[in-house]
Amino acid sequence: MAQNWTPSSWRQKPIQQVPEFPDKAALAATEAQLATFPPLVFAGEARRLKKQLASVAEGNAFLLQGGDCAESFVEHGADNIRDFFRSFLQMAVVLTYGAQLPVVKVGRIAGQFAKPRSSNVEVQGGVELPSYRGDIINGIEFSPESRIPDPERQMMAYRQSAATLNLLRAFAMGGYANLENVHKWMLGFVKDSPQGERYRKLADRISETMDFMTAIGITSENQPSLRETDFFTSHEALLLGYEEAFTRIDSTSGDWYATSGHMLWIGDRTRQLDHAHVEYFRGIKNPIGLKCGPSLQADNLIELIDALNPANEAGRLTLICRFGHDKVAENLPKLIRAVEREGKKVVWSCDPMHGNTITLNNYKTRPFERILSEVESFFQIHRAEGTHPGGIHIEMTGKDVTECTGGARAVTAGDLQDRYHTHCDPRLNADQALELAFLLAERMKSGRDEKRMVVNG
Ligand code: TRP
Ligand code: MN
Repeated sequence: MAQNWTPSSWRQKPIQQVPEFPDKAALAATEAQLATFPPLVFAGEARRLKKQLASVAEGNAFLLQGGDCAESFVEHGADNIRDFFRSFLQMAVVLTYGAQLPVVKVGRIAGQFAKPRSSNVEVQGGVELPSYRGDIINGIEFSPESRIPDPERQMMAYRQSAATLNLLRAFAMGGYANLENVHKWMLGFVKDSPQGERYRKLADRISETMDFMTAIGITSENQPSLRETDFFTSHEALLLGYEEAFTRIDSTSGDWYATSGHMLWIGDRTRQLDHAHVEYFRGIKNPIGLKCGPSLQADNLIELIDALNPANEAGRLTLICRFGHDKVAENLPKLIRAVEREGKKVVWSCDPMHGNTITLNNYKTRPFERILSEVESFFQIHRAEGTHPGGIHIEMTGKDVTECTGGARAVTAGDLQDRYHTHCDPRLNADQALELAFLLAERMKSGRDEKRMVVNG
């Protein structure tokens, strides 16, 4: 077990991005009550995910992580969860085929409620109020009352996370995730997309493969693996009081696990080596992520890896790189080289969202071309360095929103106002998300074909 660590040892450290709750007694009472609630996930599941991520670290699987920037209380409902899962699974199928590797499926969901903010205050029409920090902390409405941090919100976040996770488990194991369904949805997308012709070849090959499997007698009726899938949850563990309440000892191993989700990550703004978030994370045994932005120096990264994964366990640590399409070439290679030089086992994942945010017509948006360009650079750089581009981490929804510009059904700057629903950052809509998967699958496939040609002479 980590030395001198307890679930509350983070309280002795400096902390960033945590709001002042005016009513300390109410906060303590809420945390005490949360600590009596059943865990959302079981430690054995977190270990299973860690094993799958170890396989990614070794180059034998690909990680797909995605979901809302911020979940919200008002958008919570069966339709949204279903539509998200539907888009996510289609991406997973396309990527599985493109990579010819198992895809490890991790949602930013069932707990993604707390947001770090670049400014503590927001000004509108000359009025200054505390910033919105996610539904688990305060309200998005621009009024003094709504912006007061309210501990009661943590109860709602827990209840919603439990309900979301319950439905996702039902979908993943109860037949909804059947490969034959997902394949049909994907063909529907290809048929309707303006770029459909471009994706048809890949889609046809998937169809042929499915037909071949049916012909030889492999069907979802006799193969559970065709109708079920492993799906895991993740969120940024920003609100450490909440996380502490769900940090429990696993009776099987005697180890501490965060049980608010399978995988948690540390944000780019809270990764100071001697601060509270790194302190909390070093003691939990879950697989964890670390967001890596342009300000992260290679030697600092190595210190963080030593603190967070001292045993150098594969699958424990995923480095989620979010540099920006124009900064990835300058920043990523030095981190990869340092990690390789030190022999550290990590999963490299690309978050092409957070470094590519711009403002158009007063809307925060992200151009699809820049998102794609960052992922492509990420792949190229890993190919050049001889390392495995392990996965992607995206902000997406299953709905037809207009938050990111571009894509085949091009969203323009003028369209942004139509269906701009996000509570925080702009997300890829269902079509843009699947398109990204197709474009990546194409690129992974052509990379493999090249390699094969070299091998075969
Ligand atoms: N069980 C396999 C997997 O999860 C195959 C599979 C079943 C699948 N349903 C799926 C893959 C939906 C992607 C999406 O990989
Ligand atoms: Mn975000």
